[in-house]
Amino acid sequence: MDPDRLKGKNILITGAGRGMGAANAEHFAAQGANVCLADIDLDTAQDTADRINAAGNGKAIAVRCDVTQRADNAAAVAAVVDAFGLINVALFNAGLNKPRFFMDIDEDNWDLIMNVNTKAMWLGMQETARQMIAQGNQDYPYKLINVGSIASRKPLVDVTVYCTSKYGCLALTHCGALGLAEHNITVNGYAPGVVVTPLWEQLDKDLVDIGFKEREGQAYEDIVRDALQIKRVSYPDDIKGTAAFLASSDSDYMTGQMIHIDGGWCIQ
Ligand SMILES: NC(=O)c1ccc[n+]([C@@H]2O[C@H](COP(=O)([O-])OP(=O)(O)OC[C@H]3O[C@@H](n4cnc5c(N)ncnc54)[C@H](O)[C@@H]3O)[C@@H](O)[C@H]2O)c1
Repeated sequence: MDPDRLKGKNILITGAGRGMGAANAEHFAAQGANVCLADIDLDTAQDTADRINAAGNGKAIAVRCDVTQRADNAAAVAAVVDAFGLINVALFNAGLNKPRFFMDIDEDNWDLIMNVNTKAMWLGMQETARQMIAQGNQDYPYKLINVGSIASRKPLVDVTVYCTSKYGCLALTHCGALGLAEHNITVNGYAPGVVVTPLWEQLDKDLVDIGFKEREGQAYEDIVRDALQIKRVSYPDDIKGTAAFLASSDSDYMTGQMIHIDGGWCIQ
């Protein structure tokens, strides 16, 4: 690992208190980035920031941020600028899932998932781009990174709203790339499959509750057997290299792309 690969990059990461967001923040900072961990759960974000600062290299701050609120997004961006001088990269990672079969979806389920996964991504992109535009053009692009999913591309019967929200993340990646190119801002993303995190651990239980699976753990086994080409589930450590690539100068000539890092599920 190059400890200077992300040196000079100041990076906002939403949903960074745990799961993939926390792993990415630690990986970015280990490569020299300064990171702002924005999460609705300030305690977990602060714990992760403390670990990063204890490890040395890039610095970390934590802020409480409900990504569904425009003002919280603006405040998180301002915190990056206050702490580090400017913002170079933002990773829109905050997200959640709550499975329902199609006829069981209600407004609460729809609003919860669409607001956190999609509306909040749009708000975060806009508030971050506003600051980047004010900072002015530079030699290398500013970068927005959107977290999609296998559900950005594949219809899944048990998670219609999640699929709708993540297809939306793909659209925001494409449309954002078109809309922000003139400001030297690229928009890319990555799309995991099954990553063992608190989100998936809860999903595994919820799939039993809605009657889609008979027992906990069955969803993992079924997906590995029937859908994945690489015959195991993934962990945040499997994903962090792709996130770092998109945050680094190695991806400067890319925009509007969503990289699938899903063990080959998307070609199934
Ligand atoms: N785990 C998977 O298998 C998987 C697969 C594909 C895509 N994803 C996506 O990856 C991203 C990260 O998922 P994860 O598995 O690490 O989840 P996770 O549940 O482990 O972490 C999500 C983080 O987001 C935060 N968060 C939730 N609502 C928020 C809000 N309103 N404002 C700010 N923060 C909020 C949580 O507090 C938590 O720290 C999500 O966008 C998810 O949809 C996950």
